[in-house]
Amino acid sequence: MYAQMIKSEETYEDPKKLMAFQARIDDGDRIEPKDWMPKGYRKTLIRQIGQHAHSEIVGQLPEGNWITRAPSLERKAILLAKVQDEAGHGLYLYCAAETLGVSRDELTEMLLNGQMKYSSIFSYPALTWADMGVIGWLIDGAAILNQVPLQRTSYGPYARAMVRICKEESFHQRQGFDIMIKMVNGTAEQKHMAQDALNRLWYPSLMMFGPPDAESVHSEQSMRWKIKINSNDELRQKFVNQTVPQAEYLGLSIPDINLNWNERKQSYDFSQPDWSEFFDVLEGNGPASVDRIEARQAAWEDGAWVREARIAHAEKKNMAILAAE
Ligand SMILES: [Fe+2]
Ligand SMILES: [Fe+2]
Repeated sequence: MYAQMIKSEETYEDPKKLMAFQARIDDGDRIEPKDWMPKGYRKTLIRQIGQHAHSEIVGQLPEGNWITRAPSLERKAILLAKVQDEAGHGLYLYCAAETLGVSRDELTEMLLNGQMKYSSIFSYPALTWADMGVIGWLIDGAAILNQVPLQRTSYGPYARAMVRICKEESFHQRQGFDIMIKMVNGTAEQKHMAQDALNRLWYPSLMMFGPPDAESVHSEQSMRWKIKINSNDELRQKFVNQTVPQAEYLGLSIPDINLNWNERKQSYDFSQPDWSEFFDVLEGNGPASVDRIEARQAAWEDGAWVREARIAHAEKKNMAILAAE
C-alpha cells in the first residue's frame, strides 16, 4: 500500500488546506492520525519514524551479542533489560508509523531490501566489553539529545511514543557511564579498553546527528512542520559540550587534536567526522552492515511461523464468530 502511495502520489495539494494545516502546526496543535495532512508530511514522517524504529531494532544487535559475555550476573541482568527496552522502543515506533497507513511488514520489507535505512552507528561492531560502556554513554546519550525535542514534535503518536522512550534512554545512558567508571578505575588494561572504545566510537557518535546543516536535504521543510525541532549542527555541538567534561571526569581523552574550548562562543571547537565514511556506511558499506541485515533477514524468516500461526488463529476465530451468528 505504501509503495502504491509513493507511485500514485501527486504533488498537488489544496493551498487552503495546506495553509490551515501550517497554521495548526504554528499554533502548537498536535496532528492526529485521522486529521488531514499533506502527502509530503505523511511521507516524511513514515521515513523518519520507520528509520527510527529500524534503528531501535537493529541497535539491539551489537549489545545483544554481549549478553552471554557480560562480566557478572548483575551486568548481564542490566544489559538484558536495556536490550529489551530497545525492542520495546522499536515496537512503539512501528505502531506510530502504522497510524500513517504503512504496516510493520511493509516497513520491515523496505529495511531488508535496502529501501529504508537505520542509524549509521549500528553498522559499527562492538569489539570489547568497554563498547557496552561507550554505547550507553555516547550512543544513548546522543539518542537522548535527538529524541528529547521530538517529544514536542507535531505528530501526536510520535510525540507520545517519545515521552516513554526518553525515560528509558536516561537509564541506558547511566548504565553505560557506570560501566565506564568501573573500567577506568580498574586495571591498566581495562582503562586502555575504555580509551580504545572511545577512540573507535567517537566520530561515529558525532555522525548520529546527521550531515552538516548545509548538506542536510530534508531539514528546512521538516523544521517548518515541526517534525524536526533542532538542526543537526546545533545538537552535535550540544553533545560535544556535554560529553567533554564527562570524558575529563573519567580521565579519558577525546581523540581530537582540534578540540578546544572557545570562550567567545562558549562552546567547544571540534573536528568534523569523515562525512564520506558516513554516506558510505548509509549505503550499506559499514564494517558490520552486511551482518546486521543478515541477522534481521534470519529473524524475519525464523519468525514466519509465528506470523502464519497468528493469521490462522484469527481466521479460525472469525469462522467461529460467523458460525455463531
Ligand atoms: Fe532506544
Ligand atoms: Fe537506548
